[in-house]
Amino acid sequence: MTNLTLTDSKIASAKVDALVLASTTGEDTAVLAEGTDLPKNAVAFLNQNLSATGATGKADEVVKLAGVPGVTAKLVVVVGTGKPGAAVPDALERYRRAAGAATRALAGKDSAVFALGGGVEEARAVAEGVLLGGYAFQTFLGEGKSASAKAPLASAQVYVKGRHKEDIAGQSATVADAVRYARDLVNTPPNVLFPESFAHSVSQHADGTKVTIDVWDTDRLQAEGCGGILGVGQGSGRPPRLVTMTYKPRGAKAHLAFVGKGITFDSGGLCIKPGTGMVTMKCDMAGAAAVAASILALAELKVPVAVTGYLCLAENMTGDLAQRPGDVVTMRGGRTVEIINTDAEGRLVMADGIALASEQQPDAIVDIATLTGACVIALGNRTMGVMANDDDLRERVTAAANGAGEAAWAMPLPEEIRGSMDSPVADLKHTGDRAGGMMVAAKFLEEFVGKDAAGEALKWSHVDIAGPAFNEKSAWGYTPTGGTGSGVRALIELARSYA
Ligand code: BES
Ligand code: MN
Ligand code: ZN
Repeated sequence: MTNLTLTDSKIASAKVDALVLASTTGEDTAVLAEGTDLPKNAVAFLNQNLSATGATGKADEVVKLAGVPGVTAKLVVVVGTGKPGAAVPDALERYRRAAGAATRALAGKDSAVFALGGGVEEARAVAEGVLLGGYAFQTFLGEGKSASAKAPLASAQVYVKGRHKEDIAGQSATVADAVRYARDLVNTPPNVLFPESFAHSVSQHADGTKVTIDVWDTDRLQAEGCGGILGVGQGSGRPPRLVTMTYKPRGAKAHLAFVGKGITFDSGGLCIKPGTGMVTMKCDMAGAAAVAASILALAELKVPVAVTGYLCLAENMTGDLAQRPGDVVTMRGGRTVEIINTDAEGRLVMADGIALASEQQPDAIVDIATLTGACVIALGNRTMGVMANDDDLRERVTAAANGAGEAAWAMPLPEEIRGSMDSPVADLKHTGDRAGGMMVAAKFLEEFVGKDAAGEALKWSHVDIAGPAFNEKSAWGYTPTGGTGSGVRALIELARSYA
């Protein structure tokens, strides 16, 4: 992992392998970003060379130049940040991504100074980008392979003007560590990460922190009436678990509940997925990973907001006890659900989690899940869908995600959707119209949101991360191939907004 510190010394004379600078998209060429204290002749040389090499300054462009006059580092890396002034992604996110792209380009190197912008907020974004871009999942590489796989950049200094009281490097590292933990959980193969081992990992990570952990096994889930989690998990030889994480700082300003989908592998169950759709389904626990990682980070950051996390862990398999279409299960709280398609398993485990969360009467419930392929069709691979039963909460969640650099878009929950889930044999069925599949799934979840003392529905928001949770394509910005850690920064930012 990249070791990160801040520096306010002259960047031109830094004795490092590489100096990283930012460029923006100018009229017809890349232009070196301002705000660093480089000597004039270095700036002139760099701008000339950017133009001569045909650089455009667009996002993810990395230009490497040697022999820059007045610069001690042998190598100068100029990384594109795109057009200045664009609202989405905002300036900080463009720096975050650029820092990540440069860090990936520096894999195998020992040291670099990052001077993308001089301000405190910019430095924070750059620090996050460096630490996220320097991620590599090499746990399962064999001896020969791991020798050839490059190690991430060993040490990075982020340039920031003046000295600052705030521990920018430390806070960025805490946030980045959380994202990296979520990525590790998602990337860990499903024969290694299953409900019991997931629960074990979270317990170990919580050891010695202010987060307490409670794990329910099958017997306990039975006793507690969690028919959704049990029904989904009963087709697997690896039994389900429900993990409750509690972070309750003294003087908490609010109480939030986070509920995460933790399907450690989604085969589809008896309504089995085709092989092509199944191959990435180890990622189906990314919501639970985001909940676990964000709560651990909030405790480390001492954010004065109480958060209870519910990790709904099960493996959706086809064993001889597997749930069938036509089954009727009784959920936490007593409602009955007719099973239609065993591949719509996420909403079943989440419904129990949301019902449990409601019993504590939190100020808001936020659930996060790789819930529907429909979300990917609607919003693509990089944007999460945000729904809610409350306009303010939906805006708050969307703003928190976008503010943290995670693209999010608000989606509606029209009333008429509910009708398509009426069942002749149970209180409701768990699937409905194919059209608007993302909203149908959310509408099912809404049924399990409890009421407050006045009889009003508790505030609830649902975040579908089926698109952004897993990157099947090449790395970009600070996002690697595989698990992305989607939702971690959004949840941290959301909790901070209540502090
Ligand atoms: N885990 C999937 C959704 C998913 C799809 C996540 C692609 C990430 C990438 C979910 O359990 C599922 O299979 N949903 C079905 C629901 C349908 C059967 C109503 C879907 O979206 O097709
Ligand atoms: Mn499924
Ligand atoms: Zn699933």
